[in-house]
Amino acid sequence: MLINSKNQIPASEITPESVYLSRRKFIGQSSTAVLVGAAATPAIALPSGWVEEQGYSEGEPIGEKITPEDIATRYNNFYEFGTGKEDPSKKAHVLTTDPWSIEVAGEVAKPGKMQIEDVLKGIDLEERIYRLRCVEAWSMVVPWVGFPVKKVLDKFEPLGSAKYVKFTTLYRPKEMPGIRSIFSSVEFPYVEGLRLDEANHPLAIFAVGMYGKILPNQNGAPFRLVVPWKYGFKSIKSIVKIELTKREPRTTWNRSAPHEYGFYANVNPEVDHPRWSQARERRLPTTIFGGTIATRMFNGYDEVASLYEGMDLKRNY
Ligand code: MTE
Repeated sequence: MLINSKNQIPASEITPESVYLSRRKFIGQSSTAVLVGAAATPAIALPSGWVEEQGYSEGEPIGEKITPEDIATRYNNFYEFGTGKEDPSKKAHVLTTDPWSIEVAGEVAKPGKMQIEDVLKGIDLEERIYRLRCVEAWSMVVPWVGFPVKKVLDKFEPLGSAKYVKFTTLYRPKEMPGIRSIFSSVEFPYVEGLRLDEANHPLAIFAVGMYGKILPNQNGAPFRLVVPWKYGFKSIKSIVKIELTKREPRTTWNRSAPHEYGFYANVNPEVDHPRWSQARERRLPTTIFGGTIATRMFNGYDEVASLYEGMDLKRNY
C-alpha cells in the first residue's frame, strides 16, 4: 500500500475490524460509523510540502509504503516482555487488557480514575499514518487508529500550573516476564513524559488500534502514546496513569543512560547517539541488500518546529 496525498485506505480493509470497537464499545453505538468514516477520510499526517519535496505531484503515489502488518506486530520493543524483538509478540498475549482503567492525577481540576471506555466516550477515532523512527535507527510506517492526546487531557481540565505530562505503563510482573528478568537494562514501571504544549500538539495521539484493528498487546494495548516526531521510545505503551506536573518528569531511558537518551528525544539527524549515527535509518522491512534512507529533522514533521524555537536542540537532545 502506498501513501499518497489523498491517501485512500479502502473501507473494505477496515470495516470488518469495526467488530473490535463494538466488542470494547469504545465509542458506544456509533462505533462502526466512526471507523468507517475514518476509513473514508483518513487524517493523513504527512508534513505539509512533503509531497512536493519528494518530487511527486499531488495525488500521485509517493515512495513510502505502509510497513506490512506482520512486521509491525512482530518486530517490537516492549521491555516488559523481554529485550528481544520477537519477545513481545511471543509473550504479550497473556496480558489482561480488559478491564482497563486509567488514572489522571496532578495539576488538573478533575483528577480521577476511569475505565478506558469512559475515558474515550465522545471521542471520535481517526486513522493517522505516521512514520515511527526508533532511536536504534530503524523505522516503519504505521497506520494508527487513535485521537489527539489533547482530547483526553481536556476532559480532566489541566490547571495553569501544569507544565508537563507524565505517562506510566502498567506494572504487572505476573504477566510481564521482562519485569521479572534480571537482564533488563531499565527500571519499571516504564515512564515517559512530554511538555504540555507538545502533548497538546495535534500530531500527538493516543492509539487504540493499528491497521484498522484493535491494538495488539505487543504494540501497547489497549492504550498507548504515539509522538511521530520523536524517537520511538517516547511512544509509551499500555498506559495506566497520566499525571500533569509542574516539573519535568524523570523518564525511563533518561534515567537508565542520561548521556544517551534525553527528555526531548526529537528525531534529529544532526545529533548522533554517542554510539552510532542518527543521519540515516533502515526502513523495515529491509532487503538482503540492506539499503538505508536519510533521516529527516523531526522525522519530517516540520510543523512542530515552532515548539522548539530558541532552544539548542543539541543540548536538549
Ligand atoms: N513502552 C513501554 N512500556 N515499554 C517499552 O519497552 N519501547 C519503546 C516504545 N514504547 C517501550 C515502550 C520503544 S524503544 C519503541 S521503538 C516503541 O515503543 C516501539 O513501538 P512498536 O513496538 O509498536 O513498534
